[in-house]
Amino acid sequence: MATPLLQIALDNQTNESAIKTLNSLGNEVDILEVGTILCLQEGKSAIEKIRALYPDKIILADTKCADAGKTVAQNCKDAGANWMTVICCATIETMVAARKVMDDVQVELYGDWTFEQAQQWYDNDIKQVVYHQSRDALLAGKRWSDEDLNKIKRLIDIGFKVSVTGGLELETVKLFKDLDIFAFIAGRNLREVENPAYAARAFKEEIKRNFES
Ligand code: 5RP
Repeated sequence: MATPLLQIALDNQTNESAIKTLNSLGNEVDILEVGTILCLQEGKSAIEKIRALYPDKIILADTKCADAGKTVAQNCKDAGANWMTVICCATIETMVAARKVMDDVQVELYGDWTFEQAQQWYDNDIKQVVYHQSRDALLAGKRWSDEDLNKIKRLIDIGFKVSVTGGLELETVKLFKDLDIFAFIAGRNLREVENPAYAARAFKEEIKRNFES
């Protein structure tokens, strides 16, 4: 199993705030996610500014795109993103249109979706999914369960690179230690701390401890 990557979710409200986060931890993480909130607040300038600062990093635009896959993908690519997200309820045509433009596309798994749909995504060259605990579900008290872990395993068995996210904490990482996780995506627990660089290093150490032994 490869060691999982660490992705920062930049759900900052402004470009200025996102760049402040990156000044601390930008070199500690593997993937820079221009979060949905930042995309909605600042648009493509967020991607452009981050690309200018990090010419060689993977940048994911978390557009959670539901339609107009080709146009949204082209806009993200022109701004400097490598990957983008589409929402799992988008049509296969939207996903394929986005995938034709971007280096890779991640399907964000929220709410209802089926393994039959997942197989269709995979068969159409969509090889990444993000298994998500929504902020709102977490706030309502939902936690990672065996049901989640079993679903993640089935997705990995199909062949997907599976990333996990949603209120991830250091203590959450070990829950996934028997699974071939592609990336851990963390936002608030990396950004909203006194020292984001230190928090990112601690996540990387925890990932290594659980996945390299
Ligand atoms: C919200 C997202 C977030 O970017 C992702 O869940 C990570 O954020 P946090 O660690 O703060 O929950 O996709 O829709």
